[in-house]
Amino acid sequence: MRYAHIVGWGKCTPEKVMTNDELATIVDTSDTWIRDRTGIGQRHLAGPKDTCTSLAVNAAVEALDVANISAAQIGMIIVATSTPDFAFPSTACLVQDALGADASGAFDLSAACSGFVYGLSMASDAIKAGSIDYALIIGSDVMSRVVDWKDRNTCVLFGDGAGAVVLQASDQPGGMLTSVLRADGSGGDMLYCRSTYRDKIVVSAPQDTAAPTAASGNSKLADAGFMYMNGREVFRFGTRVLASATRDVATRAGWEIGDIDLIIPHQANNRIIEAAAKALGLPMDKLYSNIEHYGNTSAATIPIAICDAVNHGRLRPNDRIILVGFGAGLTWAAAALQWGTPRILSRTNRTLNRVRLGLANVRSRTRRIFRKVEDSLFVNNDKHVKPQAAPPAIAPRSTPPAVEPEKEQKV
Ligand SMILES: CC(C)(COP(=O)(O)OP(=O)(O)OC[C@H]1O[C@@H](n2cnc3c(N)ncnc32)[C@H](O)[C@@H]1OP(=O)(O)O)[C@@H](O)C(=O)NCCC(=O)NCCS
Repeated sequence: MRYAHIVGWGKCTPEKVMTNDELATIVDTSDTWIRDRTGIGQRHLAGPKDTCTSLAVNAAVEALDVANISAAQIGMIIVATSTPDFAFPSTACLVQDALGADASGAFDLSAACSGFVYGLSMASDAIKAGSIDYALIIGSDVMSRVVDWKDRNTCVLFGDGAGAVVLQASDQPGGMLTSVLRADGSGGDMLYCRSTYRDKIVVSAPQDTAAPTAASGNSKLADAGFMYMNGREVFRFGTRVLASATRDVATRAGWEIGDIDLIIPHQANNRIIEAAAKALGLPMDKLYSNIEHYGNTSAATIPIAICDAVNHGRLRPNDRIILVGFGAGLTWAAAALQWGTPRILSRTNRTLNRVRLGLANVRSRTRRIFRKVEDSLFVNNDKHVKPQAAPPAIAPRSTPPAVEPEKEQKV
C-alpha cells in the first residue's frame, strides 16, 4: 500500500511589512478596530520585484531543501492561486521552469483560499494511485494587487505570501489520510474579482452567465478590477464550514473530535477561528493561528501556517492534524493527516540545490534563445506559414530569475 507524507515545507513572504497603524494613514481605520475585529496586526506586501511566481519559487526551494530532494524528482507541481501573473501560462509552469523540474507536470488550481487543500488532496491521490512519487503543492497569492486600497472593508484583511509542501510516496502508514472537497457556486457573488479581459467582447459572445454579476455586488469595485466581498455573509459561511468540514473529515478518518492534536485553519479572521473552536467544543490552543503576522494570504495561509507550526514545535511525529480552508467559489475543503517524521536538512544538498537552480536558470535562458533563433530562421524561410505578428513573448520582468530563498522570518 502506498501513502503520501509531507516531507518538506517552505514559505516566502515579501520583505515589506505594513502595520495597522501605517494602514490607518491610508484609510479610515485603526489598529484597535483591526485587531479587535480580525486579530490582524500586520501584513506583508509585494514590492515591485515580487510576483506570484517569485514568491512561489522561493517557498518551493525551501520546501525542496527540507525534503532533501532535487526538483528533478518532482512529478507534479500544483500552484493554488487566485492572483496568477498571467491567465496563461500557468504560474506552475513558470515555477517548473525556474526550478528545472524536468520530469514534472504543472498546473494552476483555482479554488481561492481552499486551493491549497484541494491541491494537497489531488496530489496525494496521484501518489497513492502510483502515478508519481513526489509532488510539490504551493499556495501563492499577491492579494494586495486585487484589493482596492481605498476600501477599508477589504484592504485591512489581506496580505501577500506563498507556502509550499513536498509530498512523498512511502510504504510507511500515515501522512495524508483522507479529504473532503466541497463547492457551492451559488455563493459566487459573495466574494469575487473579475478577470481583466471579461468585458472585452470583440465578436458576439455566448449569453452571459448569471453569477457573479455586477448587479449582485458592488459594481464600482468589480468594474475597476478590484475584489468585492460581502464581509458579513462570508463571515457566517466561514464560521459554519470550518466546523462542519472538520467534523466531516474527522469522521472519514475514523477520529473523534477529541482525538485531533491540531487544526490548521484558513487564516481569514481570528473571530471565525474562535467561533469554529466553540462550535467544535475545542479550546483555542487546538486551532493554530498566525494571522496576526500576515493577515489573509488566501491560498498561502495554510502552508505558511504549517511552516510556522513546525518552527514552533506544534507538529510532532504521529500527531493527528486537520487542515481546513474556505473561500471564494464558494469553496471549502479539509484534509486529515498524520504528521510524519521530519528529515534533517543536509547542507550539501542545500548547496547542490542552489547549483541546480542556477543551472535551471541557464537552461531556461538557453532554451528561450534557441526558440528565438529557430523562430527567426522559420520566419525567413516561410513567410506564408508563419504570421508576422506573433504573440508577444512573456515580459522578462515577470519571468522569475533564480531567486534566492528568503531568510527565516522571525514571528
Ligand atoms: C470584514 C469583517 C472584518 C467586518 O467585521 P464586522 O464585525 O462584520 O464589521 P461590520 O461590517 O459589521 O461593520 C461594523 C462597523 O465597522 C465599520 N468598519 C468596517 N470596516 C472597518 C475598518 N476597516 N475600520 C474601521 N471600521 C470599520 C463599519 O462601517 C461598521 O460601522 P457602522 O456600525 O457605523 O455601520 C468581517 O465581516 C469578516 O471578517 N468577514 C469575513 C471576511 C473573510 O473572511 N474574507 C475572506 C474569506 S476567504
